[in-house]
Amino acid sequence: MLSIFFGGIERAPAVAAARKKRAAKADAEVRVRRVKASDMANVIALDAHITKLAKPDYWTDVFKRYGRQRLHERFFLVAQDCADRKNSRLLGFIIGEVRAWEFGSTPCGWVFALSVDPDARQHGSGRALLDAISAEFKKAGVSKMRTMVERNTILQMLFFRSEGMMAGPYIQLEKDID
Ligand SMILES: CC(C)(COP(=O)(O)OP(=O)(O)OC[C@H]1O[C@@H](n2cnc3c(N)ncnc32)[C@H](O)[C@@H]1OP(=O)(O)O)[C@@H](O)C(=O)NCCC(=O)NCCS
Repeated sequence: MLSIFFGGIERAPAVAAARKKRAAKADAEVRVRRVKASDMANVIALDAHITKLAKPDYWTDVFKRYGRQRLHERFFLVAQDCADRKNSRLLGFIIGEVRAWEFGSTPCGWVFALSVDPDARQHGSGRALLDAISAEFKKAGVSKMRTMVERNTILQMLFFRSEGMMAGPYIQLEKDID
């Protein structure tokens, strides 16, 4: 009803077509691959830029665990700009792993980090990263993917919802430990 009111029925195919066009462009320009040691300086810088907190020791540890070990179920992927062959910059990264039987859950893929360079956003890199890790999870034999977002971070919610992710069956509980 609402869509008829705002002419959504007329616009819907155009929106879908524009989205498809952006996705095709992103596919051509964004290459997603496993992280390499030589990417880590850029990963650390991107994370520090976004979170305003440099954590080189944390990232060195994450690289060892997710970029080097149990690679059949751990995925640390980066998106690289292929449009400019001379300057193939890092556009973003995603990290996740297959976890089994935690909280009674059957094995599923967890995404616990995703970040795209603010200068590169809204060009399909986030989607390319999520699609790539989703394909890896599928190859690893799981059919469910999960993540967690802060309740008030609208951008993350918009992104994950746009990619088809919805509220799951668990809720997080916490308390201060004095
Ligand atoms: C969330 C984030 C990863 C999205 O990356 P991105 O490369 O800009 O996302 P994409 O271009 O692939 O967008 C995919 C879809 O997300 C939605 N989306 C992305 N940015 C949006 C925005 N600013 N406003 C509204 N919707 C948005 C759109 O539906 C978009 O699809 P469309 O372009 O076909 O309309 C990026 O904004 C980011 O790194 N944010 C900060 C870190 C963060 O919040 N990480 C997430 C959890 S750890």
